[in-house]
Parts: sequence; structure tokens; C-alpha cells
Amino acid sequence: MKNACSEHVSDCVRTLPGAGAQAVAHAARELAGLVSSPFDPGLPAQVDARARELAPELGEVFAPPGAAGAAVISGLVLDNADLGPTPQDWSHAGVRSLSADIAMMLLARCAGVPFGWQGQQAGRIVNNVVPAAGHEDEQTGASSATLLAPHTEDAFHPRRANMLLLGCMRNPDLVATTLSSVRQVQLDEAHRRLLAAPTLPILPDISYGAVPDTGAAPTVSTLWDGPQGPTLRYDPAYTPLPRARAEFRAAYEALTTELERVSYTVALEAGQLLLVDNDVAVHGRVPFTARYDGTDRWLKRVNLRLPQRLRDPAEAAEDGYGQKLVEPYAAAPGRRPSPRPHPALVGAR
Ligand SMILES: [Fe+2]
Repeated sequence: MKNACSEHVSDCVRTLPGAGAQAVAHAARELAGLVSSPFDPGLPAQVDARARELAPELGEVFAPPGAAGAAVISGLVLDNADLGPTPQDWSHAGVRSLSADIAMMLLARCAGVPFGWQGQQAGRIVNNVVPAAGHEDEQTGASSATLLAPHTEDAFHPRRANMLLLGCMRNPDLVATTLSSVRQVQLDEAHRRLLAAPTLPILPDISYGAVPDTGAAPTVSTLWDGPQGPTLRYDPAYTPLPRARAEFRAAYEALTTELERVSYTVALEAGQLLLVDNDVAVHGRVPFTARYDGTDRWLKRVNLRLPQRLRDPAEAAEDGYGQKLVEPYAAAPGRRPSPRPHPALVGAR
């Protein structure tokens, strides 16, 4: 595994314009004073209005990453006193970090259409990723002691995010996120054909509750040529591989080996954002020892839809295992002002 994203992509390091970053922090503080929780029904309209003002300056920073499938964005303004200690699990991330949640919503709204899941973290739009005692060895964001295997976020669902925005509140031990782009792997045509054929299901991860593998779940493609290029839907921890024929398993293993070969790590620092193209890159996390003392690694995560990016029509028939979206911004399409092209994005989609 390489340890520098700059070896893989030239446009993976970006910076929020200083005035824009301050404007986000100011707007977030102001809105946090007007609402009492991130579920306030009036909040999306307020965020929409502020994001329309901010997007001309900030939108270009959130353009989809290039071939590396991810970009680090520096400059998020944080207030440690407002944040308070790292919560002991997502459910304890209370109103103290409300202005940070609203800042993430504002930035996410500049990047696309934020959404949440009814079955995950009580439907929050901004999820909290923190290590939780008793979950150290799970394949979820609450884990710590185990390698969080590379995966497409919510790969089981046909309406999974096109992009993820991760905001680092703190990461004192510089625990690294791992990334691998399907646009950088090399596979022979026979393996690509096998991986494009819907062969196995991907089951929901346990953060949504256990779903038994009944054998009736819809099979999905793993890697195919989408309108923008090679596209990936990959989550080996929740894919019943033993059920497949040997030749498919060999192709899947070749893909896994290639994803490992091209993988790189990003150790986010407080105030940095990570924009991940969820159709292009898989992400994971190296193992670490959780502190459980209020100073642990703390990320805030937002799922984003890009309305201009269409999914494979074959996915439309999938029911997503009954998991429903929370979409307070879905009724406001087309409000994101078109940003100017980022000078560092030559060659990006
Ligand atoms: Fe994830």
C-alpha cells in the first residue's frame, strides 16, 4: 500500500477558499442558533438558501475527483469548544456539534444533494463515525481493532451515494483511510466480462440490522463500463462469494488483488475533508487502538447524490432490502449554481 495520494493523482489536494470557509463557519453558527436539532424541519430550506450563496465560490472545490476517485480538501473551520469530546458512539453526538453538522450540510449541498437513510443513525443526514466499545471487530464504521475492508458505501442499495463527503473533526493518531480506484486497476477482458455479469447479491451491512442470506436476493454487477468510465460496486465482506462458480471467484480475487495494488492511504487531520467518488473508489480504514477517552478519531459523513449522474437501469428493479432514504433536499433540484471549472481538474469527469 502506498502512503501518498499525490503518487496517484495530481488533483487530489484542494483547499477551501479562505473567505468561503469563514462564510461557511459563520452561516453554520448562525443557523445553529436558530434550530435546536439537525432534524429541525425548517433547516433544509435554510441550508439550501445559504448554500446557493456559497456555491459560486465553493462549488468548484467539490467537483467529482479524477481517476484517483478521491480528493482531500483542507480548510474546514472547526471550533473545538463547540465540538466537545468525541462521543462514545454515534447516538451520543448531540446538539453540541450542531454547528459542525450544519457546516457539513452546507458544504455537502454545494457538492450535490445530501441524503440519509431511515435505518442508519436515526435518519441523520450527517452521520458520526467514531469507534464504539464492543464493536471493535465489526465491518462497520464503529470498528477500530480490525481492518475495515475496502468497500463501496452502501453497495447493497441501488440508490447508494454517488459521492461521500467525510469531515475530520479530530484524528490525533492520524489513523489512515484507505482508498483504491477502479480507474487505476488492470484486469484482462475475461475477468472484466465475468465481473460485469450480475452473479451474486450484496447484502446490507450490519449497521442496518442483520439480513439473512435467503438465496433470493437480487444479483448485481461488480464492475462495468458506465457512461463516465469503469464503475465499481464492491463489498466483499457482505458478498456471499462461496456461492459463485470458481471462474467468477477467480475474477473477483483478481479485482481484489488489483485494488490492493493501487491502494493508497490518506490520514485526515482535523479540518480536512475527504471527497470520495463512491462509483469509482472503494474506501476502508487501517486498524487502530481506540482511546475511548473523548479524544478519539471523529469523522462526520454525508451521502451525496449527483443528479446528473445516472445509474444502470438494471438496478431500478432492486428493492434495496427495504431500506428507505431520507431526502430533505430532493425537492430542490437544480439549485446548485454551476461552478467554474477547477484549474486542477483538467481531465477529470
Ligand atoms: Fe464506509
